[in-house]
Amino acid sequence: MRYIKEAFDTNWIAPLGKNVDEFEKEMASYIGVAHAAALVSGTAALHLAIKLCGVKQGDVVICSDLTFSATVNPVSYENGIQVFVDCEPDTWNMDPRALEKALKKYPHAKAVIVANLYGTPAKLDQISQLCSKYNVPLIEDAAESLGATYKGIQTGTFGNYAALSLVVLKNKTRKEYTGIRSEGSKAA
Ligand SMILES: Cc1ncc(COP(=O)(O)O)c(C=O)c1O
Repeated sequence: MRYIKEAFDTNWIAPLGKNVDEFEKEMASYIGVAHAAALVSGTAALHLAIKLCGVKQGDVVICSDLTFSATVNPVSYENGIQVFVDCEPDTWNMDPRALEKALKKYPHAKAVIVANLYGTPAKLDQISQLCSKYNVPLIEDAAESLGATYKGIQTGTFGNYAALSLVVLKNKTRKEYTGIRSEGSKAA
């Protein structure tokens, strides 16, 4: 309410301002990364990551198969081709053994997108090691796992890019704050 009142008092609502800057800083510092950029939705964050990976018509992107459709829709927005990698029984997330098979079959894949489903992290160390080994950028879809850690490290920090989302479900109202993280020279 305070911020809504402030918006009326100052007549400043959009496009950006100190609240968004602070939100980005807090998000980056909370998960422990250098930069975060706030976007309108998790889908937009994933779409930006796909663009930053240079996905163009006909490019292969290796994706989790058990996930919300927003994980993979942005590949279609750029006319890329999703190659789905099956999940494993323990985490229900991308199976690193199946990922390695896919990376061998599609060595020119433009990106790998791994989702951390229902707040449970994928085997992010193995998956990021495989992406480094095959020199394919990793996009971490951490929209469902903000605050979850893998081996003591916050999810949303393992890929070259990550999409995060803060979802509040209350009285059938869904408020989302989403953003993309980027690192080093790839800063968005
Ligand atoms: C796995 C996953 N990825 C991405 C998203 C982002 O979707 P949205 O564009 O609705 O914020 C969601 C939202 O529920 C999700 O569950």
